[in-house]
Amino acid sequence: NIYADSEEASKAVAREIANLIRQKAKDGKQAILGLATGSSPKKVYAELIRMHREEGLSFKNVVSFNLDEYYPMEADAVQSYIRFMREQLFDHVDIPAGNFHLPDGTVPIEKLAEFCRDYEQRIENYGGLDFQLLGIGRNGHIGFNEPGSLVNSRTRLMTLDLTTRIDATGDFGGLSKVPKKAVTLGIGKIMEAKRIVLLAWGEHKAENVARAVEGSVTSDVPASYLQLHPNASFIIDVAAAAQL
Ligand code: GLP
Repeated sequence: NIYADSEEASKAVAREIANLIRQKAKDGKQAILGLATGSSPKKVYAELIRMHREEGLSFKNVVSFNLDEYYPMEADAVQSYIRFMREQLFDHVDIPAGNFHLPDGTVPIEKLAEFCRDYEQRIENYGGLDFQLLGIGRNGHIGFNEPGSLVNSRTRLMTLDLTTRIDATGDFGGLSKVPKKAVTLGIGKIMEAKRIVLLAWGEHKAENVARAVEGSVTSDVPASYLQLHPNASFIIDVAAAAQL
């Protein structure tokens, strides 16, 4: 779906999420959302906050699981994804404390494999993700599933690509300060979501959007796996559609 700009597109995505939350509430159920960080979803979260304030959209029945977190990472660090999510969404809506989940960047390395298995199990216990929001990295990654990730990969510790670390340099004030690893939801789990929406804005995303949508399905471009999903959409602006 190609929109004139990221504002219009983000509003459409926020509307879809809000409709899901409201429908689930009507049915007396929880909406299980897979959420993403990065600059791409910021306007979606801003619109959801607006809907909460102005239209009474409640997040009381929302349970969320974030895609990823740097490792190691303290929760209160400026760059932590839990802090990002609090600032961009959770602190501004009525989602109950305890209803949002993120990979924990402080788990000791020897307990990490168990943490990852448990994270997937927690999602399962809620009946799986109703909706997964994604961005796309400059190398075609989704979450922190770097090129080479398999379609059935599980939640795990990933070594970050140099391009990914270079893109995060600004946030950390120097390449040497960017963590070398991250915990990410695996492609296998992402693909189990009932609905997937990937956001991409700007010309710098155009090449990878084209490779992901029109190229062959390959581990070289993890976002290309979404071609195999029955209900996945790329919601992009005109600039990101430049090479389609
Ligand atoms: C990071 C995140 C990804 C995100 C990507 C793109 O690598 N882990 O989930 O999709 O950045 O970020 P942006 O949306 O800022 O372009």
